[in-house]
Amino acid sequence: MIATEQRAPGAPPPEDFVPLIVPEIRGNEWAYVKECLDTNWVSSVGSYVERFERMVAERAGAKFAVATTNGTAALHIALLLAGVEQDDEVLVSSLTFIAPANTIRYVGAWPVFIDAEPSYWQIDPQRIADFLERDCVWRNGALIRKATGRRVRAILPVHILGHPADLDAMQQIADRYALPVIEDATEGLGAQYRNRSLGGIGDVGCFSFNGNKIITTGGGGMLVTNRQDWAERARYLTTQAKDDPIEYVHGTVGYNYRLTNLLAAMGCAQMENLDAYIEAKRRIAARYREALGCIPGITTPSEAEWATSTHWMYTIRIDECQTGIDARALLRALHAKKIQTRPLWQPMHLSPAHSTNQHLPCPVAEALHGSALSLPCSVGLKGADQDRVINAIRGIIETHAA
Ligand SMILES: Cc1ncc(COP(=O)(O)O)c(C=O)c1O
Repeated sequence: MIATEQRAPGAPPPEDFVPLIVPEIRGNEWAYVKECLDTNWVSSVGSYVERFERMVAERAGAKFAVATTNGTAALHIALLLAGVEQDDEVLVSSLTFIAPANTIRYVGAWPVFIDAEPSYWQIDPQRIADFLERDCVWRNGALIRKATGRRVRAILPVHILGHPADLDAMQQIADRYALPVIEDATEGLGAQYRNRSLGGIGDVGCFSFNGNKIITTGGGGMLVTNRQDWAERARYLTTQAKDDPIEYVHGTVGYNYRLTNLLAAMGCAQMENLDAYIEAKRRIAARYREALGCIPGITTPSEAEWATSTHWMYTIRIDECQTGIDARALLRALHAKKIQTRPLWQPMHLSPAHSTNQHLPCPVAEALHGSALSLPCSVGLKGADQDRVINAIRGIIETHAA
């Protein structure tokens, strides 16, 4: 167990503490939220919900958007839209936060965890192609995984850390096997793949606005799609599947997943600053790259020539042989200097929450899990604090490498 920041809710951070990522609230948030309070439009209907949906849809290059209580809810609904059912299988990144894997289980389906590629750490399209080609077979018009006899129903790539996965390669495979692509773009708002915005490229895309995302509503999410029927279905399912609002007739089991006007108001104000936030994140990334990229044993993240990363979560790799210290020990040493860092998520194929004996090997995800460390990269990170992080890393490595 690795210590993280310990403080009582509401308490100010300890002096000199450099957090991993904190929200940046510097625009119209107060004015818009106050307007909701003043007008009593605080709940799940209101002009800010529609405005926020339009802003995100436009940014993602999608025709439609449906705001949700969080990104997990958006993913849950996206799987239902894609027709994923009980005992289906869905291909998903192994190296990801757990939410997409969990939502696959919410609909009674099973995740098939796919390894990351080593260059940009995203889901590897070649591994997807290999799995579909070698491990699956067409039976009575359905794509069946030989080992389990279950139907393979969708691909759920997760764009991690603000960099895109290789979507064209994935789409080609998806087209060949008639599989819908659900983009988990929760970490990728504002990032681009071949000049197209993440989220709006697959059949459906999902965003999160939780506290550590590039924009936040405290908690919130959004689903975007170019398919009108899917957007209408998403709106229906997220509002308790109400057929008749007067008589309370519900056509199916729905969900209470709609975002409130109050939070959407905050989202609108945050969206107004998205470009400035991306610029700040990229500036922070450039500075880390320049200062740390030359240290033997540290690998800074690469950006594909077809990608514009937001560098949402700036993450380096540490080679213990060259630096004399492993990523976990470096985390603890930085923690002692009041600098918060974080390892990457336990790969999903190793997670006790998703353990089965049907997992494909994921050596790249495992290696990244052992060696990567995310560094402080709040939009508002001050130059002096970033220098402290850089100097601390340099100093610790100098002591250990000697
Ligand atoms: C990759 C990924 N997917 C899904 C989620 C879930 O989003 P939320 O926390 O808004 O439910 C997150 C965010 O934590 C995430 O990082």
